[in-house]
Formats: sequence, C-alpha cells, structure tokens
Amino acid sequence: MATLFTNPNVSATHTTHISSFSSNNPIPSLFHLKPSIHSQKLVPFTAIICSLSRSRRPEYIPNRIPDPAYVRIFDTTLRDGEQSPGATMTSKEKLDVAHQLAKLGVDIIEAGFPAASKDDLEAVKMIAQEVGNIVDQDGHVPVICGLARCHKKDIDAAWEAVKHAKRPRIHTFIATSEIHMKYKLKKSKEEVIETARSMVRYARSLGCNDVEFSPEDAGRSDREFLYQILGEVIKAGATTLNIPDTVGYNVPDEFGQLIADIGANTPGIENVIISTHCQNDLGLSTANTLAGACAGARQVEVTINGIGERAGNASLEEVVMAFKCRGEQVLGGLYTGINTRHIVMASKMVEEYSGLHVQPHKAIVGANAFAHESGIHQDGMLKHKQTYEIISPEDIGLFRSNESGIVLGKLSGRHALKARLMELGYEVDGTELDDLFWRFKDVAEKKKITTDDDLIALVSDVVFQPQVVWKLGDVQVTCGTLGLSTATVRLIDADGEERVACSVGTGPVDSAYKAVDLIVKLPVTLLEYSMNAVTEGIDAIATTRVLIRGDNIHTSTKASTGETFHRTFSGTGAGMDIVVSSVRAYINALNKMLGFKNQSESKAHAGKSQI
Ligand code: KIV
Repeated sequence: MATLFTNPNVSATHTTHISSFSSNNPIPSLFHLKPSIHSQKLVPFTAIICSLSRSRRPEYIPNRIPDPAYVRIFDTTLRDGEQSPGATMTSKEKLDVAHQLAKLGVDIIEAGFPAASKDDLEAVKMIAQEVGNIVDQDGHVPVICGLARCHKKDIDAAWEAVKHAKRPRIHTFIATSEIHMKYKLKKSKEEVIETARSMVRYARSLGCNDVEFSPEDAGRSDREFLYQILGEVIKAGATTLNIPDTVGYNVPDEFGQLIADIGANTPGIENVIISTHCQNDLGLSTANTLAGACAGARQVEVTINGIGERAGNASLEEVVMAFKCRGEQVLGGLYTGINTRHIVMASKMVEEYSGLHVQPHKAIVGANAFAHESGIHQDGMLKHKQTYEIISPEDIGLFRSNESGIVLGKLSGRHALKARLMELGYEVDGTELDDLFWRFKDVAEKKKITTDDDLIALVSDVVFQPQVVWKLGDVQVTCGTLGLSTATVRLIDADGEERVACSVGTGPVDSAYKAVDLIVKLPVTLLEYSMNAVTEGIDAIATTRVLIRGDNIHTSTKASTGETFHRTFSGTGAGMDIVVSSVRAYINALNKMLGFKNQSESKAHAGKSQI
C-alpha cells in the first residue's frame, strides 16, 4: 500500500511518496520523490546553501534505526580504499585514520579484511581495541567492522579482530551474479545460498549480534535469486543487507529501483537495514548512492576522497554534503550524523597516507573546489558569496584565507603558523607542530614570503610520515657532463646510529638512491617517481613522490578474488633542493615498507654494517 509521507522539516510544498513498508518498518522509501518545478522555485533564499545539521543521532540498534530519516554512514576507506594499488597504509596510519573517522562521527568503520594477512588482522584488532572503545561526549562509539568471505577461517579472523570493540560487526559476502558464480565460484545457486546461510549463522554463533551480508555483484544479479538469498540470510540472523554495485554498472534510476524492489519483495526485510555500496566505474557512485537512499537504504558505504578499487567508491564527503545541502529540500529530509567540519582534515590525512592524490577539481575537497578565479565569479562573490558557492568552506573545516589577514614570513611565530594551518584545515599540535615550525623557519629564511602551498608541502613532509626507521642525515652529490654522478649519503637509524655510503649512478638521484640502498639493504623496485614544484619561481619547494615494491614478504590476499598481491608503498618528500626532496621521498617509502611489517622482523632485514 502506498502512503504519503510528509516530513515536518521540509517546506509544505515538498511531500514525499513512500511505498509499501509495514507500520512496524521504520524505513520509508523515498524513491518517488519528485518535487515539482513550481515547488523548486519556492525554495526560500536562506535554503540555497547548506543548512546546519539538525537532529541528534538515534540510538544504535544493529537491525533497526529509531528515526526513519537517519542514514548511517559506513566508511570503508581502510578496507576497500586501502586495498587499491599503492594505497598501503601502516598500522599506525590506519589507527590515525580510524581516530579521524571517529571524530567525523561515522557510524561504522570497516577497519579491514582480517584474513588478508597477519598484519591486516593486527591492524583491525588495534582499531577495535582503541577506537572501538572511545565513547564521545554524545555517547557515540563507532561500530568496528571486519570483512570476511563466506569461509569459516575468514569469519574467525574477522571476529578475532573486532570482538574487542564495544560494537563489533562481521561483514560477510559471496557473489550472486551468474558470471561470478559460474567462473569465479564455480558454484550452483543452491550451493551459494547454502554457503551464505550457514556462514551468517556461523558468524552469529560466535556471539556477534551485528552481522552484515553482501551479495557481491548484486547490480548484475538476477532479482528473484536476490530476494531468495537475502530472505534466507535474514532468517539466519543477518542484521544489515548491503547491496553492492560491485563493478559500477548501474545507473541511478536502475539502482534506486533495485533497492526499492528488494525492499518490496524480500521476505523479512522489515527486520533489517538495507545498505548501498556503489563503485564508480561510470562515475555514478554518488548519484547511485543517493538514489539508493531515496529508495529506502538507510546505510551507505563510502570512502574518504572516494578511494577504492579501480575508479573508486562513492565518496563520503560528496554523499554527506549532498544530504546536508539538499536533504531537506529534495531528499525527503534524510540526514546523517557526520560532523562535516572534520572533512578536510580527513581528506588530507587519507591523501597523504594512501599516496592517492586528490584531483584539483574534485567535488568538496579538491584544491579548486572553493577557488573563484574567473573575474566574473570574483565579482559575484564580492557582491554576495552565495552567488557561486552552495557550501560554505567553513562547513567542511576550511577557512577563507583572505579573511584571516595572516601572511607568514621569517618572523612569524608558532601561533601564527598554527592559526594558518587551522585555516587550511590541518589540526597540528605538540611535537608535530614543533618539527614543522623548524622546517618552516628554514624555508622562511630562504624565501621572502611562505605561501600556503609551501606550508602544505611541509605538512606533508613532516606530519604525515611513517614512523622513522631511517632518517636522512646528509646527502652530497656531484653531477654534470664530465662523468658519472656520485652521491654520498649519511642515514641515521631509530637508535641514533649513523651509516654512510657512496655510490655512482646515471644521475644525482640515481646515485643517491643507490647509496641509500647500500645502507638499508632491502631488495626494492622503484615503480614510479615524480616531482612537482609547488610554487612559482626559482626558490620553489619541490615535492617528490615515489612508489616502491618490496620483496615477497609484503603480500596480502584480495578480498574479491582471493588472489595474493604484492603491496606497494608510496613516499613523499619536500625540499628546496630537488635531490634532498627525492631522497626524503625514497626514505619515507622505505620507512613505510619497514613499518608495515613487525618492526623487529624488519630491522633484522635492514643491513647495519658500516660501509
Ligand atoms: O564491491 C563489492 O562488492 C564489495 C563487497 C565486499 C561489499 O566490496
């Protein structure tokens, strides 16, 4: 039976059509929401930029949300995001990201795929023990979730990792599309249903009362089969049903209809939460996610900066800001519990730790997202900011530079530096601020004015770095047209011991890297090297990014295919000298690789004899 749902927070001209959910199902479907052109004209002037968040976050009950308009944010940056090529993070980096996600107020953190390797299990466990037990002043503590294929050993590993959290969740999945079942799983439909049912039941039997199930490649699966398998896993105890468009194949209307159909035809659906997981292969992940929520999904799976396999996932910042900006007017009053002021810091942290750079024109968090360079736009902005701005930068944790009046130079102090960093979205304190201040002073001595880009390069070089195993002492090179380049490098290890090595090479960077290799003695392959001058002029700061691959010990299992893959590690460095910047980037990548493995084991690999 169709019902007309009127949201009290939406202006009277906005009514929402909801489909057939029973009265004890708190999930209205908003799929038929179509405000008229007439009603759009009536949007009050004050509503044309984002409104501030409103209601309190409802109580957490795994299979039910007391407020029908609340959408849970499930962040999978540390699982789907981290498994993308080059995005490897160390355990400490993952823990930092998890803390930032908790600050943002995400409802569920998918902290990893514990069966992938011992390191992955340990990282998820550490997050569950630490972040999963910090209750904020509003009583919120994020659910900590671990991914598992429908295998007993994966489910055991996931439970072993997440059970330490106040709110642990196991997320198990199996493919349901014809192509995946035939070629990947080599299983019949009946076998797939039986595996799913028994593994959900097994997860519940371990004592986990929050179990999510995903039919992988649901976007290309047969509808009737989906209703059947989903009905069976509900009976087996699943509390959330996640509907993945695994290969980013669906378009918004189609994906919204899929969610609506699952809501209308799956037996027992009123007892669980429906979730979306949209990949971005056609660039439609955010649109599909919103369509899914409008059709009744009340959990959305997203990643910071939209990172993830291939073209990535729906991005947290886009989805959350869409709800915040347009939720009341055109998305049926849907809202989230995210504190959007922490978005910029989360984005920068993930960018630095994953090594996956955000394109300048990326929505919400790209460097140009709030830059109004054309004369016409600037004129409009000066007359009224909202002429070209639908979100105020402060809402995502960015402050306007032309309003602060802070210009940094060699006489600027710590406070001015900290204030400017805050304006740029970085929260830096303590020893990190001290280290940054001395690097800043060094640059400011050499340049008249230190720009925001210089500061960002320095933050990236000082703050977002892996734990130090090796530190650059000195590097000296000779190069030119007369012969081979030669480099002498002095490195200092974590115990303060110094090592010196010399090498020749085809150029200054090659000879310096070879000298570093003679000290660190790890078999690595340099996969990528790139350099950028971050400011104009001859006294620019250069940032270098490298990507390296180590030997066979750095392997993990891919959740989707079960294949073993070699981890790659990124490193960045900054400096006014291009060779120094390059060596810093290389050492940072090596440190990251060493930090990924157990420290003591890694140190045994690292050569320590005087050369
Ligand atoms: O893309 C996908 O199907 C997934 C599932 C495991 C949710 O990542």
